[in-house]
Amino acid sequence: MKYQRVILLFALLFTAGPTMAANDSLIPGDLMNYIGYGAVVFMLLLLIIVLLVLLKTTKILTRIILKSEGYTEQEIKKQLAPEKAPAKPKGNVWIKLMSLRPLSEEKDMIMEHEYDGIQELDNPTPAWFMYLFYGTIIFGIGYLLNYHVFHTGQLQYAEYKTEVAQADIAKKAFLSKSANRVDENTVKLVSDPAVISAGQGIFKTNCVACHGDNAQGMVGPNLTDDFWLHGSKINDLFKTIKYGVAAKGMPTWEKILSPKQIADVANYVKSLHGTNPAGAKEPQGTKETDSKLASN
Ligand code: HEC
Repeated sequence: MKYQRVILLFALLFTAGPTMAANDSLIPGDLMNYIGYGAVVFMLLLLIIVLLVLLKTTKILTRIILKSEGYTEQEIKKQLAPEKAPAKPKGNVWIKLMSLRPLSEEKDMIMEHEYDGIQELDNPTPAWFMYLFYGTIIFGIGYLLNYHVFHTGQLQYAEYKTEVAQADIAKKAFLSKSANRVDENTVKLVSDPAVISAGQGIFKTNCVACHGDNAQGMVGPNLTDDFWLHGSKINDLFKTIKYGVAAKGMPTWEKILSPKQIADVANYVKSLHGTNPAGAKEPQGTKETDSKLASN
């Protein structure tokens, strides 16, 4: 029994070895790991052998000493291996839990028939086991119906795809939210075609009535020339579009367009600079120098 445990311990150590070695990043290289690990195991083995030898030696020594003091063989045996108090019949709780019948009752359970000395016990399966068994059947039916008949549940791959789709939606929402944090101070001049075309769409639906199809100017001023009433920088445009110029008939777009949309349409307007559309309205405001236009 004692040796069995030792052997078991070593089997355990050896199986756990590779994983332990792989996680050990202190010594680089698998080989080094195995050498170091082998040394540790060897030392442990040595220690155990030494301990066993020591134990054996003390036993022998005790025997010799006791013998020299005139003890009989029987008494020595008693000294070295004192009788243990009779163990209480344990395992009662366990037996009850498992609804097992104690071994002592086996005689009463033996059934009539016998074949070649093989007998059968009338020992029904414990209730908890049967409940578990029926439980698995019910679970199995439910599982089958849910996943393969009514398709109310999603199988792994479908579930994966749903989660990816959900994550995409969340990501888009997050990105648009962060894009919407833009204001007249943080807006940037960009030439991204996606932004320009988004801005064009917004311009077509909201601005052409007053600024003309090509921003050449109608009620509102020409937005393609060098002359500006409220500044030509992207920040200025954003501000004008956002707050409007109520007294002069330029509506405020703050409530209608999102910050991102205002940034898009402002960038679109900037992209129209110098397009010289037909029927352009006469210049209004002050001339902004080219360098100023280019850098903003
Ligand atoms: C109801 C008519 C009207 C609509 C619609 C309108 N605007 Fe205007 N916009 C004006 C007027 C009028 C002005 C001139 C304001 C002034 O004289 O101060 C103006 C001025 C501007 C300016 C400033 C030009 C400068 O010289 O500084 C920008 C930029 C502008 N609008 C962009 C837009 C955009 C973009 C839209 C669509 C989202 C839009 N406007 C929709 C009438 C309009």
